[in-house]
Amino acid sequence: HTHGPAESGTAPDQAGTTLLQGISQLVTNDPAVGEGPLGLIGDAAVVLDGDRVVWVGPRVSAPAADRALDLGQRAVLPGWVDSHSHLVFAGDRAAEFTARMAGRPYEAGGIGTTVAATRGVERTELLRLARLRVDEMVRGGTTTIETKTGYGLTVPDETTSAAVAAESGVDVVTFLGAHVVPPEFDGDPQGYLDLVCGPMLQAVARYVQFLDVFCEDGAFDGAQTRRVLAAGQRAGLGLKVHGNQLREGEGVRLAVEHGAVSVDHCTYLSDRDVDALAGSTTVATLLPACDLSTRQPPAPGRLLVDAGARIALASNCNPGSSYTSSMNLVVALGVLQCGLTAEEAVQAATTGGAAALRLPDVGFLAPGARADLHVLDAPSYEYLAYRVGMPLTRAVWRRGARVV
Ligand code: NIG
Repeated sequence: HTHGPAESGTAPDQAGTTLLQGISQLVTNDPAVGEGPLGLIGDAAVVLDGDRVVWVGPRVSAPAADRALDLGQRAVLPGWVDSHSHLVFAGDRAAEFTARMAGRPYEAGGIGTTVAATRGVERTELLRLARLRVDEMVRGGTTTIETKTGYGLTVPDETTSAAVAAESGVDVVTFLGAHVVPPEFDGDPQGYLDLVCGPMLQAVARYVQFLDVFCEDGAFDGAQTRRVLAAGQRAGLGLKVHGNQLREGEGVRLAVEHGAVSVDHCTYLSDRDVDALAGSTTVATLLPACDLSTRQPPAPGRLLVDAGARIALASNCNPGSSYTSSMNLVVALGVLQCGLTAEEAVQAATTGGAAALRLPDVGFLAPGARADLHVLDAPSYEYLAYRVGMPLTRAVWRRGARVV
């Protein structure tokens, strides 16, 4: 089998219905159609029609279809929903990473290196790079992708980044003009925020669904974060916050206060932060590959779930703090480092991500869902953490098109 690259709007390969069988375990994430919270079905089948799932259930009761494919007794999951990444950038930061491993701390300031590299390339090159990263994600079992601007930080560069993101094959684009204060506004954060909350927001609005702000020492403080969130609200965008990544701070509480869809990182949480998340609809998005890559402690997933907070797991793929897009790894780290059960980690990387993006038709496999499937070279989802680091992605369908 050879399959073309994963592109946005890729049409299903063939007309008519396809029956997939030879599924040792189907994770539907729909307790109405299968067992337990993951809605598991053993010896299962799935029927696809165009870009939709039209039937799931036990193989013995599967309806007839135009064609059938045997998956060889493997586990099938909904494709991963990666709700946090930064794919629009040029250059790398291997030297910074190596220095960090030799003892230098991670700081928000490293972002400036990538801003300079990103400003220095043509739009076509940025688009080529972003598409390569989207393909890499899809080949790893990720079928829904959010990505952000945030390495342009001028009106034209952020607009280019947003347009490139929208064209790159991702599902959701977020405006992160408030990533750091760029060098030309050194010492004048308010002046930069005038630009972000005014002409920059206006210029990118047609390409983006969410607005994000990095609330952290070295980026933006509480008052500045409020200002950015208020501007996003006025523009009618969904809100996200990068918060509590490197130390405790106001990010989590400001996100909850503003009804943000998610607050991402959540590595350093006070009891008050945990309570605030548990009493809200704001999703706590954990980025354990970033914690690992920056030698931070793992985000307290166990604590959050036990408190009743809603969590998601995402890759945070970016050149500084987490240069991996492997959601298989992220799910394993959710289990091995953040204290989640295998079941909780799979949910966080599927339905959790869908909640963090407010997408109603991804992250589960039942009639009406997007035909986004991830076939594992393993008999059950438990293998993702059990066989950490092994190449378990065997096949992938995105929007009904087989891409792996
Ligand atoms: O999510 N925390 C802020 N932004 C990114 C890191 C970006 C970078 O280092 O280039 C993050 O970790």
